[in-house]
Amino acid sequence: MCGIFGYLGKRKAVPILVEGIKNLEYRGYDSAGMAVASDKGRVISAKAVGPVVYLEKKIKKNRLFNGDLMAGLVHSRWATHGGVTEKNAHPHTDCSKNIWLAHNGIIENYSELKSDLISKGHKFKSQTDTEVIAHLIEEAKKKNSLVLEEAVRVTLKSIKGTYGLVIFDKREPGKLVIARNFSPLVLGLGKDELFVASDATPIAPHTKRLVYLKDGEMAVLKKGGYKIFNLDKKEINRRHLDIDWSYEQAQKGNFPDFTLKEIFEQPIALENSCRGRIDLKNKKTVLGGLAGLENELLKIRRLIIVGSGTAHHAGMLGKIFVEELAGFPVVTDIASEWHYRRPVFQKGDAFLVISQSGETADTLAALRGAKKKKILTLGITNVIGSTLARETNAGVYQHIGPEIGVAATKSFVSQSAILLQMAIFFGKQRGLSDAAAYKILRTFRNLPKLVQKILDKSEDIKAVAEKYKDSRDFLFLGRKYNCPVAYEGALKLKEISYVHAEGLPTGELKHGPIAMIDKDFPSFFIMPKDSVYDKNFSNVQEIKARRGPVLALTTEGNEDLKGLADDVIYVPEVPEILYPFLAVIPLQLFAYFSAVLRGQNVDKPRNLAKSVTVE
Ligand code: AGP
Ligand code: GLU
Repeated sequence: MCGIFGYLGKRKAVPILVEGIKNLEYRGYDSAGMAVASDKGRVISAKAVGPVVYLEKKIKKNRLFNGDLMAGLVHSRWATHGGVTEKNAHPHTDCSKNIWLAHNGIIENYSELKSDLISKGHKFKSQTDTEVIAHLIEEAKKKNSLVLEEAVRVTLKSIKGTYGLVIFDKREPGKLVIARNFSPLVLGLGKDELFVASDATPIAPHTKRLVYLKDGEMAVLKKGGYKIFNLDKKEINRRHLDIDWSYEQAQKGNFPDFTLKEIFEQPIALENSCRGRIDLKNKKTVLGGLAGLENELLKIRRLIIVGSGTAHHAGMLGKIFVEELAGFPVVTDIASEWHYRRPVFQKGDAFLVISQSGETADTLAALRGAKKKKILTLGITNVIGSTLARETNAGVYQHIGPEIGVAATKSFVSQSAILLQMAIFFGKQRGLSDAAAYKILRTFRNLPKLVQKILDKSEDIKAVAEKYKDSRDFLFLGRKYNCPVAYEGALKLKEISYVHAEGLPTGELKHGPIAMIDKDFPSFFIMPKDSVYDKNFSNVQEIKARRGPVLALTTEGNEDLKGLADDVIYVPEVPEILYPFLAVIPLQLFAYFSAVLRGQNVDKPRNLAKSVTVE
């Protein structure tokens, strides 16, 4: 899950690469490094442990970086093999420092390759798996006097594992060789200049024209253009795609960080996730990405929904929506669990994968397992041209613009909105009444305004977060539609404030977890006035009887909890199936303010990366 950015063109590479890696830092950020080359084969490089700004400071202090260096690469690392040290930061080189490369992924057979290379006299400078690639290329060049791209091809055939690679050889100036296998890599086509990156974010300021590499492909970039090949040297022609968002959308604007910006973007994110897809007049949803598949979709007898983290929580919500509105069974599972069991498929199964980035390795592995069984695969993702988008039979894009904050926020409401639209689509195919569909869709259209109403009162949530800034444990509790929201609220608090929090179906309290409750262990109840409210109310009393602090989220106008709960947060009244879209907002804000109060880096929480492209 690192960030890689490469440039080859008519401008000085250094400022472009520095700006680019800062836009990629959310992908992985324990150390960073850069190498740039002149047309005469001079290479200048620097590495730094810590955030990219430390590398930037080093580069600014070294005047050698000011030269005419028109090609290069930069990398922000998320260490998998070898500690977080300068020596292990990328780029890595061969013995003679001719070949320079940056890598995203894991080389699974690196240790036997490394032993063999050492026996041939190669000297290693780092503990990483990555470094073996540079020495393998050196070996291939030496043995068969190959040009860089040929040596890379030979090398890639000998390694097992995942890679996104950007490589140059100072003896072959004006050339970058790139390759991908299960780690994302996208090419940007500028005017007489080429860009390559882990995702489109750093390319967007320069060009909207993208070409995505597929797994097992490589490309040779030269000043005159690029060529894509597979590892058997077959040239591949591939149409470019255009980015569907502006670079400004990938900036913080007036917000202190991306996380808060993206929380506040949720009204528009909801609108964009539904744009052109809600046909109120005909009381139905229109999903262009599923067009032409109506017959296959009608044959679905069971839907399997798989994702990781927040995407899995959205899938849990999708299960309830589809079973209630379309009447067929849904199985949901965490991608990394589903894939390693021996899942049982049956006739009429369809497989739906959810992933904001479209690159999560666990989710893609589960997808590939399902494809082998030849069942219909559907996807929900936010990244056009992502691996998930390309490897599913059909799907629905989120269209919410880049989500930079590591904590998923707008992507949860977006994915949930698309799942509700899908549930109505499946339902209408199976007899869901116009009245039932209309009742949901009419209010659903109004959700962005109701979300904005909650956001306008964010200071109230900040005040509540301040009261609990010293709490070390939290339970998040919800039933039915709000059980997935409880899991999501707990995940938000965990991942950005580092506070232990657990999501739990409220009914499970008495089956063990209530034993943990005492005056220092708050419980956050998601309990709007819905069909399970009374059950939740009794559970609140059970917690209070054990002196546990209670925060309760309920419907505006409901006075029951005043005097019982320690803090009450209100959301507007909606049909109960829609409460998750409102209830999750205060939970996101609670996690955000808790993290800020604890001085955490909310956009780049420790140990995390935005897109987990390793299993
Ligand atoms: C959520 O806040 C986390 N950042 C993480 O759980 C995330 O949802 C998960 O890694 C899945 O990412 P994806 O949607 O890009 O597949
Ligand atoms: N496996 C490589 C390393 O540990 C690359 C990690 C990454 O993708 O950032 O350096």
